[in-house]
Amino acid sequence: MDDYSHSVEAKEIIVDLGTRSYPVLVGSNCVNDVTKYLPESVKRVAIVTQGQIGIQLSTDKEQKVFVIEEGEDAKSINTIMELCRSWVDWGLTRSDIVIGLGGGMVTDVASFAASIYHRGVNVINIPTTLLGMVDAAIGGKTGVNLPEGKNLIGTFWQPNAVICDLNALQTLPKREWKCGYGEIAKYHFLGAKDMRGKDLIDTVLECIKVKSKIVSQDELEGGRRAILNYGHTLAHALEIENDFALAHGEAVAIGIRYAAEVAFLMGRIGEDRVLYHQEILDHYELSTKLQKSMDPNKVISLFLRDKKSKDGITFVLDGETGVEPILVQDRNILKKAMEVVQ
Ligand code: GLY
Repeated sequence: MDDYSHSVEAKEIIVDLGTRSYPVLVGSNCVNDVTKYLPESVKRVAIVTQGQIGIQLSTDKEQKVFVIEEGEDAKSINTIMELCRSWVDWGLTRSDIVIGLGGGMVTDVASFAASIYHRGVNVINIPTTLLGMVDAAIGGKTGVNLPEGKNLIGTFWQPNAVICDLNALQTLPKREWKCGYGEIAKYHFLGAKDMRGKDLIDTVLECIKVKSKIVSQDELEGGRRAILNYGHTLAHALEIENDFALAHGEAVAIGIRYAAEVAFLMGRIGEDRVLYHQEILDHYELSTKLQKSMDPNKVISLFLRDKKSKDGITFVLDGETGVEPILVQDRNILKKAMEVVQ
């Protein structure tokens, strides 16, 4: 990884949503720039984080830290209730603000709770993982899991700002880097420039630019935004089936390879493009194989629970004009494509 203990000049990208536009700041040592983004009305700052994050924030306001548990089991409606109840106890009002400081799970949970507390309170996301910086913390999707699936309940609630301090990545475990690279690989197929060989800051900025543009075009995922889920249909199924032993980015990498195979079997892309998918995944040293084989019929039943599956199984697939959501009717193709990742 790059060393960001030295200073890298922070750059801002705006997520353009009219009057609700907001900046995403990317740099090093910029975590305390958060004070610049606090609305004037703010008296109290509720910082939602996890025990192991270990980043101290200083906001010049009355602030309190609310620690949530780690792990996908804690990404639940119970955690949301507990947070909201402790905010009531503390006296957090609608003029105050919540800060989500942590990985994608923390920012999803903090933003979800913020979106429903007093019918909506301001939130700032400070992602501390690569995955959070390039994807989860940006775009306003919030949510928690149900026993039946990942992120099945949630809201769209845009933050006031997102602050990506690359210094936070100094202590990121190797597996978490892989998770980030799973999402970064995805952007290679969504219109990003070739990021292989770029500095970390330029890679993060490029992903954020692509994501911001897509979110600006389709904030509430009426259509185009679904492409941000490239590789995610199989990924979500794998995560549930493996009881979350497979981390999200690892599952996305397998899901991208699988989606390329489905597109190939449907005649949407040629072998060269499938090879390009494999090259990108290999570049980021991402495995495209399952550790234990899975029954393709079971996989199909899990696909049917996906939020995108309205009238059948909808997949985000590559093609001549780029990736797009496609209704896949032929289940034999979906089963056959499993061979490539087994
Ligand atoms: N992570 C997918 C999205 O924000 O739409």
